[in-house]
Amino acid sequence: MLNKKVENICNRQVEREGYSSNLYLAMASWAENQGMAGIALWLYAQADEEKLHMLKFIKYINERGGKAIIPAFKKPISEFKSAEDVFTQVLKHEEFVTASINEIVQVTLEVKDYTSHNFLQWFVNEQIQEEASARTIIDKLRLVGKNNMYIFDRDILGLRAASANANTNQTL
Ligand code: FEO
Repeated sequence: MLNKKVENICNRQVEREGYSSNLYLAMASWAENQGMAGIALWLYAQADEEKLHMLKFIKYINERGGKAIIPAFKKPISEFKSAEDVFTQVLKHEEFVTASINEIVQVTLEVKDYTSHNFLQWFVNEQIQEEASARTIIDKLRLVGKNNMYIFDRDILGLRAASANANTNQTL
């Protein structure tokens, strides 16, 4: 039977993962309306992942004899200043989620619930990835801001591929 303290804090996480999904949907919708198709695609996929995270918690609580509660979600913000603003907020939010997961880990240790502790390790690792990918995108966006280096870099890559093709055709 799931410890009540662990059950309650896992239910808190159900709300946080579900809110994350809605937040990224709001960001995806904003990006789509701005014509940023690639960024919108990334954010829609991220929203799907967050929904899966929520489901993992729901199923875990129920499997262990607890009762998962589906909460109301607060409305996420829908206006952003720029793509960099979006990803700065993604990173800030992921850091908040990481701290939240760590709090649950702490509770499982306090009550000696090693099964839940083990369940949470997947999320501990996932948070490392999620923070890292948000940081990578912020770094790329800063390059765009500075002399369009990122686009320049892609152009050069394209030129190289085209000239390699031309050389291959000449030898045929
Ligand atoms: Fe499920 Fe991005 O934390």
